[in-house]
Amino acid sequence: MQDAVRVGVVGLGTVGSGAVRLLVESSEHIERHAGRPIVVARAVCRDVARDRGLPLSRDCISSDIRDIAGDPSISVAALLVGGLEPARSMMVALLESGKDVVTANKALLAEHGPELFDLARRRGRSIAFEAAVAGGIPIVAAISECLAANRIESIRGILNGTSNFILSRMEEDSADYGEVLALAQEKGFAEADPAMDVDGTDATQKLAILAHLAFGAWVPWGEIPRTGIEGIDLGLITCARELGYRIRLVAVAARTGDDAAPGPLALRVSPALVRLGTPLAETRGAYNAVSLVGDAVGRMFFHGLGAGQMPTASAVVADIIDTVVGRAAITFRTTGVLDVDSPAARIGGVETHERRFLRIPVVDRPGVLAEIAGILGQHGISIASFIQHEAAGNGDAAGAAVPLIIMTHHCGSNAMAQALAAIERSATVRGTGVCLPVLDDGQPASPGSPRA
Ligand code: HSE
Repeated sequence: MQDAVRVGVVGLGTVGSGAVRLLVESSEHIERHAGRPIVVARAVCRDVARDRGLPLSRDCISSDIRDIAGDPSISVAALLVGGLEPARSMMVALLESGKDVVTANKALLAEHGPELFDLARRRGRSIAFEAAVAGGIPIVAAISECLAANRIESIRGILNGTSNFILSRMEEDSADYGEVLALAQEKGFAEADPAMDVDGTDATQKLAILAHLAFGAWVPWGEIPRTGIEGIDLGLITCARELGYRIRLVAVAARTGDDAAPGPLALRVSPALVRLGTPLAETRGAYNAVSLVGDAVGRMFFHGLGAGQMPTASAVVADIIDTVVGRAAITFRTTGVLDVDSPAARIGGVETHERRFLRIPVVDRPGVLAEIAGILGQHGISIASFIQHEAAGNGDAAGAAVPLIIMTHHCGSNAMAQALAAIERSATVRGTGVCLPVLDDGQPASPGSPRA
């Protein structure tokens, strides 16, 4: 039996505590997979005095990153603190002191990935980050190892467990947004600042990491068009359901153009309508899902818990094992090959053609429906279906405000933007409209199909 590998854990929050627990409580099983024992030699955290009930001696817990970076007997460090600083400085210190690093910090990789990957390569070290995207789902390994023979054409993902939990519970319990958000925080799904979960930031950072793996391009995550779920109310969820859809926060990435003239990457995070009965629509609670299309394998679907202590710890510990056996170093080297061979990493400005769902608050009086339909028609947008319910209380009250719910056929994003601007200028509109993409097709299912 080889000597034990000594691991340092930085951060004892939800994920760090889960990783320590798993490393200690499943040590025999982990040893069989790693071929040698893996021990937690030290944990570094801010609040050393706090009793977390961990199976770790108090002597092994301290507050200075140098207790790990400066200990030559520790070869692997799990960096499990969120945010950019001090996480970035800690990662630099760990790499410079010769540690291989495992991390769940997607914000750090999305923001500073190129410089940190470069530093790791210069130092001959690896960074493993399965836990940074979609929690327990092994999507990083799937794209960078198992599907390496494929050219990935498109990805659609539910990448934020908190948003999915909120949207699911609002629908299932007819619950209020704030009430469900508090529950997500209590269950440990939400980030310390849940704004990053609900405004789409977290999903966008994860999408940028997936785009790097799938397309070989480091995309500046802040340039990816992003809309969160803060504007989704129970009324929208109910209308979508009436039309046979569910609302999900969906991250989308696709190649455009063709081999002769590759276009920019089409990337976006936004709430979208997904058809009831399809895998994305049936992804509930804190579950995440990724649907992708590879040119050889066709469509694949991955589903699992994307947030929470032990699902994320599962990915962290698998990365520690991969690092110990040398798999992480090989994978990390090959992601470097992608950087060199990167396709156009341009994003944005891509005209999308898809169906759209509109909710337009209008005054209920003669000619309004004809006016709105007329504006859409003038912009070449065809209505596929339409709902208008009576105003609450008195359906015959002239001049009451009612929402017009419209589902369109496929239409271009530019035409829709112009039509919405014209609709907003109309004196019959009362308040801000909502326009959401509808994702019920567009991802080819079989190998050899045209691009999504
Ligand atoms: N806060 C994240 C989520 C989990 O809700 O999905 C960590 O990425």
